[in-house]
Amino acid sequence: MTQDSTERPLPQRWTQVCDTLASDPGIAMAIGTSDSGKTTWVKAAAQRLVQVGKLPVAMVDADIGQSTIGPPTTVALAFLDERLIPNFRIDCLPCHGLFFVGSVSPPGHLLQVLVGTKRLVDTAIRSGVGTVFVDTTGLIDQGQGFQLKLRKIELLGPRHLVAIQRGQELEPLLAVVAGRPGLRIHRLEVAPSARVRAPAERARYRSDRFAAYFAEAHPLELEAEQLILLAPPVGRLGTKVGRTSPLFQLHMLRREDLIGLVVGLHDSANETIGLGVCEEVSRDIRHIYVRTPVAAKAAIRILQLGNVYWDERGEGITQRERNAL
Ligand SMILES: Nc1ncnc2c1ncn2[C@@H]1O[C@H](COP(=O)(O)OP(=O)(O)OP(=O)(O)O)[C@@H](O)[C@H]1O
Ligand SMILES: [Mg+2]
Repeated sequence: MTQDSTERPLPQRWTQVCDTLASDPGIAMAIGTSDSGKTTWVKAAAQRLVQVGKLPVAMVDADIGQSTIGPPTTVALAFLDERLIPNFRIDCLPCHGLFFVGSVSPPGHLLQVLVGTKRLVDTAIRSGVGTVFVDTTGLIDQGQGFQLKLRKIELLGPRHLVAIQRGQELEPLLAVVAGRPGLRIHRLEVAPSARVRAPAERARYRSDRFAAYFAEAHPLELEAEQLILLAPPVGRLGTKVGRTSPLFQLHMLRREDLIGLVVGLHDSANETIGLGVCEEVSRDIRHIYVRTPVAAKAAIRILQLGNVYWDERGEGITQRERNAL
């Protein structure tokens, strides 16, 4: 399930930026287009801090599609300490915090990505770590991607912004944030060895990560009447609830909308406990049967519906893809 198991030496400039963090800790956010090397850099920098004893560090994986911590559809947090060394695999870190976004790409879910990232970065900082790495999606286009990255920088206030680019594609964004007090921008070139992954490989990777997350899942019966059902912000399910309420009433739900749907299982404070996948719904929609690794059934109070489906063939497909089938 690893994104790439081949270890290649990093360009010297890349390791220099890793070293900078050892003497200047803080939030370090990596940005760049898809396959530019963001995750590669985060991993290398974290390893470097480990080598020089600057532990613990935290990683917040805000990439909701090509996730390295936790399953896709989530922002996830991991703490890294010496026990995880030397067999450090960025995609095998234990997950210490989850925020269910409900989608595998940010458009339509910008607020969820922003809030989730901020919440988990705050959690990491409160725990006393020196450096928090923030890995991000490759969405940096001039529309929503630009807005998301700009606002994320404004919200998190990172000490280090590691900008990995092929040409000048990040310069418009960097021009806007360059004057922020306390921000250090590190420009890196995409390495010649960076490997572009085709959409099918990306989908397979997502699928493998869902499979790994649900590998230990067990069936759980939920009483729909005891739950608050929170609609996704976009998509067929999202528009169903109408303008008056973001909450679902039972009669609005159809079995075919729910079967295979990935949902966030949240507690009474709307914190993500874990994810579930809907397997069956009783005829009267009063009972929803999910598979989930979550054991604490009594804590589940809110069901956040997503827009991603997972079926028994192990495919993670979005609602739009499902509608097109
Ligand atoms: N500096 C580098 N040296 C060696 N290999 C690299 C380097 N940068 C990237 N690669 C390789 O290129 C591929 C993509 O890198 P990586 O996964 O880090 O990109 P990313 O920006 O995180 O992509 P995504 O936006 O999809 O998450 C991987 O196979 C990685 O091993
Ligand atoms: Mg990545």
